[in-house]
Amino acid sequence: MPGIPDSFLDDLLARTDFIDLVSGYVKLTQRGNTAKGLCPFHSERTPSFSVSADKQMYYCFGCNKGGGAINFIMEIENLPFHDAVAFLARRAGMTVPDSGETRESVSRRNRMLELNRDAARFYNDMLSKSGGAAALNYMRNRRISPKYAKIFGLGAAPNEWTALSDAMRAKGYTWNELYDAGLAKRGKSDKGGGYDTFRDRLMFPVIDVRGSVIGFSGRALGDDAAKYINSPDTAVYSKSRNLFALNLAKKSKAGRLILVEGNIDVVALHQAGIDCAVASLGTALTVEQAQLMKRFTENVVLCYDGDEAGQRASKRAIGILEPAGLDVRVLRLDGAKDPDEYIVKFGADAFLNLMDRSEAHIEYRLADILKQHDVTTSDGRIAYLKSAVELLAAVRSPAEREVYGRNVAETANVSYDTIEIELKRAFASRRRREAAKETREEQQPLRAMQPTQRSMRYSNEASASAEMGVLRCVMSDPETIKIARESGLSEDEFTAPWLGRAFSAVCAADDTGTRLSVPALTARFEPGEASELARVLTAPFDASEAHRAMRDYIEKIRDERVRHSGDIADALRAAKKNKQRKAQ
Ligand code: CTP
Ligand code: MN
Repeated sequence: MPGIPDSFLDDLLARTDFIDLVSGYVKLTQRGNTAKGLCPFHSERTPSFSVSADKQMYYCFGCNKGGGAINFIMEIENLPFHDAVAFLARRAGMTVPDSGETRESVSRRNRMLELNRDAARFYNDMLSKSGGAAALNYMRNRRISPKYAKIFGLGAAPNEWTALSDAMRAKGYTWNELYDAGLAKRGKSDKGGGYDTFRDRLMFPVIDVRGSVIGFSGRALGDDAAKYINSPDTAVYSKSRNLFALNLAKKSKAGRLILVEGNIDVVALHQAGIDCAVASLGTALTVEQAQLMKRFTENVVLCYDGDEAGQRASKRAIGILEPAGLDVRVLRLDGAKDPDEYIVKFGADAFLNLMDRSEAHIEYRLADILKQHDVTTSDGRIAYLKSAVELLAAVRSPAEREVYGRNVAETANVSYDTIEIELKRAFASRRRREAAKETREEQQPLRAMQPTQRSMRYSNEASASAEMGVLRCVMSDPETIKIARESGLSEDEFTAPWLGRAFSAVCAADDTGTRLSVPALTARFEPGEASELARVLTAPFDASEAHRAMRDYIEKIRDERVRHSGDIADALRAAKKNKQRKAQ
């Protein structure tokens, strides 16, 4: 990678305990030299995410993401390469050698964070000025106390076009910096000036779990069509990977997180002493947010608005949270449209009471299935039982299965014995399917599976397989690099360009007498390419056959070239190279 010497990356990776690093994000179960866990990058019930301790690599058979420590941190922390390196270096107590790119990338992010902090301070100060009077008034009407305004760092965006931009420019920030941070928008005129993104709004800074202000939500003070405006994704902010108020809720002793829809609901709950409330930031709940929650708790209570949209969002959220291995409960609000209104009407104790009675998501979903059938008719009962048994077959605990099964039987007015057999059968067949899938994944022979990314498609699968073989050889036995060199194998003979680049990188390192480790190699590639390399390089490999295998692979690559080449001169060249090799 430009700027950072190979030797530093190798050293950094060697000093990073990969299993320990990943364990900070994923609960791993060790099985010999590999550990398995639920993938942090997609929702799943059975672990497909495997980590190899000796290779220091991960690969998910479910979503096909993979790589080493640097790829992992880039992906999970949403950091660019240089920042991921800096992140790992800090963790390992090392200093990144002074490279232009790293300094620039890290300092650009830091400067954006400083700008965000200054903007938050500006908005907050505005609450005590005339420009913030309307927002202050709104805050009072919504019963947000000054104490909680301070805890959340709330603020006011005045009803002016360039109040924030002017103040920030006076501090030395440029228009471009304001645009990049999503705080201002480009104006139509060419004069270079823009205007503030947030105007006439109550401002909520979004603060990540490390305490940095990464973005903002601005709530309209009246009936503006856009109730919320949110910062766009920037170099430091990704709304699908953060949750509003998690910086506060992560310190809660409640042992759970409550997920609500609105920022106002979050503040109202905290103010009522329920300090574990968080909200998503203007997007439907994402897998990344579920994973983020999982770093802090196993228990999530969903408390979306009582309207139909809220209920639909609940069902969707269950489908994301539950597969991520979280214990999900659903809270139904009766007599209020949202948590804020509920607390105003009935008080915090009533809300806590409600929370104790919140339904496990299974109950919630069973109730939902019941609503769809008329169990007073035979047909309706049969259909209800069928759907209910299907749902219960996914419940892992036998005790829970039985308890819910008995409820279902009672609802349908049949004896438990009748459905017990069905339930056992459905559960067993589900387990069988899952086990079969697992074995299939693990025993999958290494072949040129087409990558999902279109730009990476193999033009010649047979050649691509052999190219992968070459890489597996050079990575597991450096002696084989010599064989490849003697045969004159070069990057342009690879039909998969990134496999060719990987080969060149290994040769270039070899020139300087260094041996690239697998995670140091994959760190140089785009996520899709790194994942594909991880798949190829973590598959089991018999290194004792490496020398012979290398010769076979090279031959195969050239044979394929002859078979597929439309260019006769090119084909002849490849054939000649092969012949020479065979004669040796
Ligand atoms: N929303 C959003 N951006 C946020 C927070 C919420 O776009 N930062 C969206 C949610 O997706 C939801 C909607 O705003 O669909 C409504 O949130 P609501 O609970 O009504 O917001 P509150 O601030 O609680 O407003 P109200 O006073 O109306 O309850
Ligand atoms: Mn609300």
